[in-house]
Amino acid sequence: LRKFVSRALDKFEKLDSNQVKNIIQLLAGENELLEMVLDSMTEGLVVLDNQFNTQFVNKTAERLGVKTRERERLIWDELRDPDIRDYLKEKAESQESVRHKEFSIQSGSSVSILELNLLPLVREGSIEGSLLILEDITERRNHEARLRRAESLASLTTLAAGVAHEIKNPLGSMGIHIQLMQRALNRGTAERDFYDEHLQIVNEEIERLNGIIVDFLFAVRPMDTSLRKQDLNTVVRDTLEFIEPECESLSIEVQAKLKMDLPDILIDEKFIKQALLNLIKNAMAAMPQGGRLTISTELKGESVVLILEDNGIGIDEENMSKIFEPYFTTKEFGSGLGLTVVYKIIKEHNGEISLNSKAGKGTSFYVSFPVPIRDKKLIGWQGEEE
Ligand SMILES: Nc1ncnc2c1ncn2[C@@H]1O[C@H](COP(=O)(O)OP(=O)(O)O)[C@@H](O)[C@H]1O
Ligand SMILES: [Mg+2]
Repeated sequence: LRKFVSRALDKFEKLDSNQVKNIIQLLAGENELLEMVLDSMTEGLVVLDNQFNTQFVNKTAERLGVKTRERERLIWDELRDPDIRDYLKEKAESQESVRHKEFSIQSGSSVSILELNLLPLVREGSIEGSLLILEDITERRNHEARLRRAESLASLTTLAAGVAHEIKNPLGSMGIHIQLMQRALNRGTAERDFYDEHLQIVNEEIERLNGIIVDFLFAVRPMDTSLRKQDLNTVVRDTLEFIEPECESLSIEVQAKLKMDLPDILIDEKFIKQALLNLIKNAMAAMPQGGRLTISTELKGESVVLILEDNGIGIDEENMSKIFEPYFTTKEFGSGLGLTVVYKIIKEHNGEISLNSKAGKGTSFYVSFPVPIRDKKLIGWQGEEE
């Protein structure tokens, strides 16, 4: 259409009044269509010139907080909410864009959440004004909150059921041993050794209960991570140093293949160490006859990847989908929380975890961490240099 109009303008003198009328009608029709589309949008749109005078206000914008749809009004006088007005004014004066800024708006007894964007309107390289976009995201936010609540309730229920199941055995066992001691006391027959033995078992069960509660709390409590940019290899080396003597005594050969010069990633060291330990402990348990544990790191695309490979017993196909579930264990004295905790820690680091396993052959876990955005460019640049 633009081409058509500019061609018409070129030979404007030669057009008769009918042709001019046709062109104007065409343009008016086009304009009406555009306005209809803009008015039907769920976002509020306000077009502003360089002096922040309104050039166009769609219907939704009026509903969401602009007083009139009149043109050539200074926008600061037209915004109903004083907080939004002050905020936008400040940003506009310093020529900053605004992306996804949220405001709570009290209207009567209900609160709605408004998202606000202020973008420069650019034509042929120069700024011609700005575009203000308002969106009511109350429903979306409520929906997200409902989902989160449902999810955490569901996992809490699984966890609670798991805990109930877990504490049944130690409690039962303590009951039995206490009863035995009571009977012996009543008869007055037993030696001191007898009591020592039973008390020892009761103590162990208390330890077990305590462990279950500590693990449970760790699994349900929000994690208090403080992320710092750090080299993953250093954390891996420290952890390996800690675990190596134990591996040696179990005839497990540990091999580290750490890629040099990895970009730093955001890590909370104590949690990553714990996740690593849990994974290594599982690998050790999978190789009761000894074996080889390989830990490697590498840069893959825009992620730093950690791979933990063992040649142990592997995981049966039918268990593959369950291993991250709380309390799932195939071990006689397993807590079944190790991988639940690993998963939680990795997620807290915006990472991903996946695995590959074959029964009888071994298991590999892949953990990937995103490289912080500002460092990604550097990778690309270095790649080009080579
Ligand atoms: N490296 C591995 N090799 C074989 N099986 C594994 C490995 N890691 C995890 N598993 C399986 O996943 C289950 C759950 O692991 P985890 O959550 O750490 O609990 P736990 O170690 O207490 O059993 C284990 O019982 C085991 O069956
Ligand atoms: Mg474990």
